[in-house]
Amino acid sequence: MQLPDSDQKKPPNPRDALTVARIVRVNHAGEFGAIRIYSAQILVANWFWADCIPALSEMLEDERNHCAIFRAAMPSRNSRPCRVMQFWSYGGWILGFLTALLGRQGIWACTAAVEAAVHRHLDDQLHFLKQRDFQLYGMILSIREEELAHLRHAEEHLQTPGVMLQVLRKVISFATDSLIWLSTWGDSTRMTHALKANKNSA
Ligand SMILES: [Fe+2]
Ligand SMILES: [Fe+2]
Repeated sequence: MQLPDSDQKKPPNPRDALTVARIVRVNHAGEFGAIRIYSAQILVANWFWADCIPALSEMLEDERNHCAIFRAAMPSRNSRPCRVMQFWSYGGWILGFLTALLGRQGIWACTAAVEAAVHRHLDDQLHFLKQRDFQLYGMILSIREEELAHLRHAEEHLQTPGVMLQVLRKVISFATDSLIWLSTWGDSTRMTHALKANKNSA
């Protein structure tokens, strides 16, 4: 999905503009990390779990598209990619590689944990953006549908969650949040605080 960038409404005040810039930066970093995770998983799946490749390749294609959409949305919102994307680049790749070595359940546990972490942020973002940046709101709404499809696919392929699987999902979820925090230099926390403050004042 590619939307024209020229007709976007300017956020009404500098604080909102800063939050919008953070949303775009954090989401772009998250999509970049997802690309690295799925790339590493596809590499391992090529050796051991070839049946997972079609779904993983489709997800990788979606993430590339999402990443490009957020990148294109940056200039007009005074936003730039994080300067420390290496955290996501190496961290995401290692996360994907190790979980894929664990087998199919490792792959789908990782996908479910990462997609759930992404999804957690999106509802608050949508709530904030609806009155402030309708174009970005529309982009995220459509991206959320695809992220939800990734999450559903992973959950359908996960076996009944045993203790090991639950621990693995928690560890991956923590690793994902930490990598996003590191790669955005804490912007993800500031974005969450701004969105919470907005929700409480609504
Ligand atoms: Fe995505
Ligand atoms: Fe996704």
